[in-house]
Amino acid sequence: MSTTSVYDKAYHNSSIANASILVTGGAGFIGSNLVTYLLEHGAKKVRVLDNLSNGFLRNIEPFRNNPAFEFIEGDITKPEDCKRACEGIDLISHQAALGSVPRSIKNPLATSEANTTGFLNILLAARDAGVKRFVYASSSSVYGDATESPKIEGRLGNPLSPYAVSKLTNELYAKVFAMHYGMEIIGLRYFNVFGPNQDPNGPYAAAIPLFMNSLLFGKDAVIYGDGGQTRDFTFVENAVQANVRALFTENKEALNKVYNVAVGEAVSVNDLYETIAGIAGSNKRPEYVPERKGDIKNSLADISQAKNLLGYDPRYKIREGLQVTVTWFRKAYENA
Ligand SMILES: NC(=O)c1ccc[n+]([C@@H]2O[C@H](COP(=O)([O-])OP(=O)(O)OC[C@H]3O[C@@H](n4cnc5c(N)ncnc54)[C@H](O)[C@@H]3O)[C@@H](O)[C@H]2O)c1
Repeated sequence: MSTTSVYDKAYHNSSIANASILVTGGAGFIGSNLVTYLLEHGAKKVRVLDNLSNGFLRNIEPFRNNPAFEFIEGDITKPEDCKRACEGIDLISHQAALGSVPRSIKNPLATSEANTTGFLNILLAARDAGVKRFVYASSSSVYGDATESPKIEGRLGNPLSPYAVSKLTNELYAKVFAMHYGMEIIGLRYFNVFGPNQDPNGPYAAAIPLFMNSLLFGKDAVIYGDGGQTRDFTFVENAVQANVRALFTENKEALNKVYNVAVGEAVSVNDLYETIAGIAGSNKRPEYVPERKGDIKNSLADISQAKNLLGYDPRYKIREGLQVTVTWFRKAYENA
């Protein structure tokens, strides 16, 4: 295990040494962090299925010579690729999807194909291959227009975007697959995850990598609305912990449920910007532009269900996570 890794803490049990694990979307941001954890902790096999539409070979480059690592360039919208990827697999963490609310408003069909049809394809392939457990990425966007705070798993509002519809549909399919086919399935509703390997480029980049790019390298950054909107920003190590705990939990009560994955602290976008500015040592100002359609005003998670049933205990608060992320961005992009 590398001494500089944030993945020095173990959340799995001893069965990892015999486990063949498929990470879909493993060349993307969260997926590649999960792959790092699994390989650093001695998983028998880690296979990635990714079509590289929004992921990068550079994210999986560090593992290319690891004999426990396999990469399949393929697409979850193709049932034959899903079938191939599930062969000989014990556990799946399904991360592949088209992220971004604005992208889904611009092109709902593409979001539906990857996030809904793709989800169904991989779930069917997992069922047919007799995979033991299926963990998947849902999203805090499923809370939609619910105004209650903090957000509790059972209390949803109406979805506000095609992206939210796709993630809600995943949760509904998960429920009926568990019911009809006896599968062990766990959904993880991530709340604004950030950290190393998150892409700062392209029209759908998330706020934190955009702010990093601006405050470290002088690029422009915008804040939508007045910046008073709040989010439960979650460092990626916490999201990896949730995945690992869900993949390996022996608590039967924890199965076939969805969980909020966050820290349980709300921070405004303005405060987030100032914290990054402080760490980066920059006084560059953002541009304020009108708020975006489909955005939730405030988003704070109640994480007690994940704590109680999965033993999830977020180790990184936002500031510590931002420090690690700023260091990573400096190194990764200083010569770009
Ligand atoms: N990052 C967040 O804050 C956040 C929040 C809530 C939910 N999520 C969900 O978590 C998961 C991972 O998100 P991320 O931030 O790492 O995004 P990402 O875009 O970095 O990773 C997604 C990966 O999936 C791959 N992919 C997309 N469509 C595919 C297809 N049809 N076939 C095969 N591979 C495909 C992409 O190439 C990419 O590598 C996604 O399901 C996303 O919706 C993320």
